[in-house]
Amino acid sequence: MTAATPSPWQPARLPKIAHGKGSYVYDTDGKQYLDGSGGPAVFCLGHGNEEVNAAIKAQLDRVAHGYRYTFTSDPLEQLAEIVRRRCGEASGLSRMVFVAGGSEAVESCLKIALQYHSAQGEPSRRRFIARQRSWHGNTLGALAVSGFRDRRLPFEGALVEASLLSPVNAYRPPAGVRPENVAEHCANELEEEIARLGAEQVAAFIFEPVVGAAGGAVPAPPGYAKRVREICTRTGVLMIADEVMCGTGRCGTWRALEHDGVVPDIMAIAKGLGGGYLPLGAALLQERLWQPIEARHGALLTGHTFTGHTTCCAAGVAVQTIIEREKLVDRVKDEGARLKARLQELLGERPYIGDIRGRGFFIGIELVADRDSKEPFDPALRLYERLRDQSFANGLICYPSGGNVDGVKGDQVIIAPPFNASQAELDELVDKLQRSLTQVIDGLPKRP
Ligand SMILES: Cc1ncc(COP(=O)(O)O)c(C=O)c1O
Repeated sequence: MTAATPSPWQPARLPKIAHGKGSYVYDTDGKQYLDGSGGPAVFCLGHGNEEVNAAIKAQLDRVAHGYRYTFTSDPLEQLAEIVRRRCGEASGLSRMVFVAGGSEAVESCLKIALQYHSAQGEPSRRRFIARQRSWHGNTLGALAVSGFRDRRLPFEGALVEASLLSPVNAYRPPAGVRPENVAEHCANELEEEIARLGAEQVAAFIFEPVVGAAGGAVPAPPGYAKRVREICTRTGVLMIADEVMCGTGRCGTWRALEHDGVVPDIMAIAKGLGGGYLPLGAALLQERLWQPIEARHGALLTGHTFTGHTTCCAAGVAVQTIIEREKLVDRVKDEGARLKARLQELLGERPYIGDIRGRGFFIGIELVADRDSKEPFDPALRLYERLRDQSFANGLICYPSGGNVDGVKGDQVIIAPPFNASQAELDELVDKLQRSLTQVIDGLPKRP
């Protein structure tokens, strides 16, 4: 039995982590867990990577951090160069600010959009448009544009007003819309909302190219991102891609929107950038947005004490160097397709599996009480929590979440293994997930 101790910030009793190596972590009782979701899709190189640890140590031995108003640094400049290269010169995404995580990255993206419009002499553009069933982070600004009911509820009334459009999910189209029309319908909804508000009021549209926690690895149908790009360009509304979870290679392309042939104006990245070794994220913007900002204000007016933290950037350089050298993004693309096909083959016909979706090593499985009607399980069953607990007992970390149907109903699980997980580890992941699902479903109270 694993020792469980109270956490200082929540009632849950959690085992204590002791160490990690590769795709596995161990608690203080010696129990081994396969990290099948890289935590929350973070640990893209697994745990305990010696090259990354050595780079961090070497930087700490030199200096921990050069404060941003006093110094630049080699790691900061190297990481900026790597990110520019991975985005591709043609993308124009050449300017960036490094922050300490996803929420800060999103917050910076929102502020960059506002600052750009001010610099352009359009200070009336203050409104953000986003989507339901999305998650952009836990700071007040990022939360205000997030469509995640349970996480917003205690803060309603204090959040900046934003428009939240329909989720873009071909498996669960908006009422009356056929799956093949979801892309067009949802893009039209954006266009109508911009017209309703008046384009001169709208700063930006923010969305996750592949929705993570709030949806369960839901890619938009083909054509959606291109239509959004066209609408944003035509109306002067900035397009912000939140690639905190789905980006930096997780979906089999370094930028998730590369898959759609689309470049956003502003982009947030985080989790996989530093691979979970140290807190790291970035807000990127196109050179053409930077020009008026520089001319008018001289600098991006977003940043914190730890912006561009030298040792965090050194960790990012080491992580990204390994990913590039070992061609891990290509591996994610190929192995991810195989992994999804295998899950489809083994689980796809089970009566409680509604949808298996996602890209690369970012795969979502939606559980339903009835496959034909797509009726979700009764949320009172807390099925996704049961799955998390059962998987954990079986020594598997996965990422279940709930509420993707209407904010309350819906159970889904994300798997997001490290990019360098071995074939045997991927097999173990599939076996343990299958077993956990069977145990959880078999253990449900029988329906009368
Ligand atoms: C898409 C997306 N954006 C933003 C965030 C916030 O990131 P963080 O938790 O690092 O602040 C998350 C976190 O899960 C996320 O998935």
